[in-house]
This record gives sequence, structure tokens and C-alpha cells, in this order.
Amino acid sequence: MLLRMMMVVMGRGARTTRPMEYRVAQLEALGRFLEEKKQDILEATALDMGKVRRRGAGNGGDQRLEELGPAMERWVPHVEGVLQATRLDSAFIRKEPYGVVLIMGPWCCPINLLLGPLIGAIAAGNCVVIKPSEMTENVEKLMAEALPSYLDRDCFAVVTTSTQETTRLLENKFDYIFFAGKPSVGRMVMAAAAKHLTPVTLELGGKNPCYVSDTCDVRSVARRLAWGRFFNAGQTCVAPDYVLCTLEMQEKLLPALQKVITEFYGSNPRESPDFGRIVEGKEFQRLQMLLRSRRVAIGGQMDEKDLYIAPTVLVDVQPSDPIMQEIILGPILPIVVVANVNEAIDFINSRERPLAVYVFSSDDKVWSISRVLERTSSGGFCSNDTLMHMILTSLPFGGIGSSGLGRYHGKFTFDTFTHQRGCLHRNMGLEALNTLRYPPYSQHRMGIVCAASGVKHKGSCTLL
Ligand SMILES: *[C@@H]1O[C@H](CO)[C@@H](O)[C@H](O)[C@H]1NC(C)=O
Repeated sequence: MLLRMMMVVMGRGARTTRPMEYRVAQLEALGRFLEEKKQDILEATALDMGKVRRRGAGNGGDQRLEELGPAMERWVPHVEGVLQATRLDSAFIRKEPYGVVLIMGPWCCPINLLLGPLIGAIAAGNCVVIKPSEMTENVEKLMAEALPSYLDRDCFAVVTTSTQETTRLLENKFDYIFFAGKPSVGRMVMAAAAKHLTPVTLELGGKNPCYVSDTCDVRSVARRLAWGRFFNAGQTCVAPDYVLCTLEMQEKLLPALQKVITEFYGSNPRESPDFGRIVEGKEFQRLQMLLRSRRVAIGGQMDEKDLYIAPTVLVDVQPSDPIMQEIILGPILPIVVVANVNEAIDFINSRERPLAVYVFSSDDKVWSISRVLERTSSGGFCSNDTLMHMILTSLPFGGIGSSGLGRYHGKFTFDTFTHQRGCLHRNMGLEALNTLRYPPYSQHRMGIVCAASGVKHKGSCTLL
């Protein structure tokens, strides 16, 4: 009820959020929040995600704030060319905010996936209701307590809700919803949005395959792969979820991965300040179940009290195993053996479309890389590395099919939260010319209309 009242106020407030200076001022305030609360943000994420020294936890995956002011000035007043037929008129696209946007953050990138979209929503001139994930309670608390004192309270609000309350929150009529999280919750969000015909962006993550061809520099592959898989203890939506390679490559990859894990996290990763913990007990138990099924080639140690799971590699994995049925979101890397690149492609295509496809190959002719790229479909793609395509703000980022809907990052985030209103300013003069388009119609008149509007199809003429 309170929220509904607030949204009415915010909806009206939408006019105040439009001036460029207002948007820039709010973004600057957000910048101050990130700067002044850097330590608190690091501590809150560390408390939620284990004792990780998280470098650059602030605004990593999106446009840098200071670049946004000038960029916005280029993006907002965008006028398309005037139509040929109406030289006295002017046609243009007005970039308008949707109104009140709801941003629901996930627990796996609790800062980036909340503030990245927020930046775009502010830049586009919207009012925003921000809902951090209830699973990362320290980040949630910090956002609820600290962020409102930086942003304009009339137009930006942080709400904290339990799972049941989230259902009620979604009963409200928002003008746009950005959701990042689990596919099952994504379906719920989209169903709730459908009641009000509210457009959505869904970032759902995916079971991202990584094909490693027989020809590659195994040591570098192991480093890039382990970094992507074990970053944040595997809890990122874009992490390589499993490896596809030949048995021959698996035999080379295993010792290389073992070596790299030791280099990264020492002989006991549990003591490493750079290796994270599982977000909470229920997630830990889910991962524990997944781990049970197959042969552990590397790691496998667990401690429920500490929510610790060692960097783990599984072999002899079958496509029907539980670990191959869901997104892992943990520090576990299964290797599925395939005979060749064609079998790897078939394997990828027999499943839901992932958020990312990764391929490593040193083929001179980049044969396997382009073959996988051309014959598969996924939200994004990166060859010879993992995660890096997500960091480039010039690339749109988002899923396809069950890995999500819509795209964002950099200007794409601005576009996500912007309605492109197609507008035409007509001239009231030359009314005589319009006579032709009004009824009653005759064959003769229609002929002239067709000629004038330049629409000439054989034997037919459609106006509008
Ligand atoms: C992948 O890396 C290998 C080895 O450096 C290189 O030969 C190949 O061209 C790269 N592939 C692509 C698509 O850039």
C-alpha cells in the first residue's frame, strides 16, 4: 500500500528526473556513494560471499560513471532524418524514460548487477525501486541504509523484502522490470509483469559450455579456465559451467588445472584470501548433492560449517548426471568427454541455449572456433578466454532463450530503460494537398495518391 502510494508520487516525479542536470547530479551522487562507502561495500560482500579480497567490487562490469555525463548528452537528444515526403514537417525520435523501474538484483553479483542497471535507469531518466537480493543480507542492509541518503528520495527507493513479500511487490504496476537471478524466479517475474503488460529484461544465467580443442596451449587454457570457473567460488552467471573435450585433452588438462589451482590459491585453498565461500547453507547442500555423483579428479574437500567447497574438477561425467541438469553456480568443474568438435556442437545444441559459449583452440585456421560460433546459439561468445566479453561495454550483454531476455551494459543499458517515442510535427499549411487522402475515394484519386506517396506495387496501392 505504502509502496503503491510512493509509486504514484514517483510516477509524477518522472518529470523531475528528466533534465540532463538532474540525471548527472544523481549519477555523481551514486559515484560518491561508491567512493565513500567503498570499504563498507567490500566488507558487506566479503561477509556475504566469504572472506574474499574482492578487487574492484564497485562498478566493474559497466560504464564508468564519469564517462556517463558526456555520453548521455550524445545519447539523449537523438533526432532522426526528416522524411522525404514531408519536407515541411519534422520527424524525430524522443528518448523518454519508461517511468518507474523495478530493479531486482541477484545474490551472485550483488553490487554490479544492482548498480549497473541502476546507472542506466538513472541515465535514461527513470524513477527506480531497487530491490537487492534477500540472500546477500549484508549488501541488502548496506543498500537500504546508505544509498537513500545519496539519491533523491522522491525518485529512488530501496526496498527489502522476503520471498513472500517479493510476490506482493510484483503485484504493483511498474513501467519496466529488470530482474537478474534464477530462471524459476524469472518466470514468476515475467508472469507478474504480464498482468500489467510491463516490459522486462531478464538475466538468468546459463549452463555455459567451454569446448577445448585438441590443439591449444594447455597451460594458458588452464589458467583462463580456472580463473573464470573459480572466481567468486564459481558463483557468477557467466562462468564456464562445464568443459567439453576429448579424452586425450582431458589427460593433459587435469595436471595443468591442478597446477594452476595451486598457483592461484596455494596448496590449501581454504586459507587463501582470494578464494570465496558459498553464499548460504541451502546452496551449499545443493552443491554437495551435485558433487556426489562422479569421480573427483581434483579437490572435493568440503566443510559445511565454513560453507567451503574446494576448487573441484569432476571426470567420468555423463550427460544424464544431476550436475549436468542445472546451472552449477559453485567451484565445481565437470569435464564431459566428446570425440570431436562436431560432437561438442551437437551436445551444446541438444540443450537450452546458454548465456555464453567458450571455445579454446590454437588451430591456425581458427577452424573449430568459427565452426562452434556458427553452429551454436548463446547470449554471448568468447574464444580463447572466459568472462572477458562481459567486461567490454561496447558489447551488448544478455541471454537468449532460457538464459534471459534483453541486453544491457554501457549504452545498451541506457537503451534498455529508454522508450523511443517516434514523433512527427506536422505543418498545418497546404491543406489542399490533403484532399486526396480523404474519402470519398475514386479510382482517379487513388492513382494520384499512389504516385504522390511513391508507393507503387503492381496493381495495388496501400496508403498507411
Ligand atoms: C586463439 O588463440 C590461438 C593461439 O594464440 C590463435 O592462433 C587463434 O587465432 C586464436 N583464435 C581466435 C579466433 O582469435
